[in-house]
Amino acid sequence: MIRPRFVRLAETGRPAVRFRLDGRDVAALEGDTVLTAVLMNAGSLRRSEFGDGPRAGFCLMAACQDCWIWTEEGGRLRACDTAVAEGMALLTAPPQETTWPTSAS
Ligand code: FES
Repeated sequence: MIRPRFVRLAETGRPAVRFRLDGRDVAALEGDTVLTAVLMNAGSLRRSEFGDGPRAGFCLMAACQDCWIWTEEGGRLRACDTAVAEGMALLTAPPQETTWPTSAS
């Protein structure tokens, strides 16, 4: 079971934005950053490629570079200053290391 890092307490009336995260169909709200959208649907933003475990961003203002995540198309984006958009397909690990959910997970 996936336990989200964030729980939305306010501003629940904005329109939904659907996107894919590690192969799962999930949703956020219009105006959410990618960082917020991912952490509303996962326990961490990404796995560090430097071996220090799961990360959830740090500064939240585009300064520390701790929130770069991957797209299914092979790109990367900085999650704290990118707005989530309908149809995005995001990965919390590099594409070659991603394991897709199975019916048992
Ligand atoms: S959290 Fe620091 S640059 Fe995004």
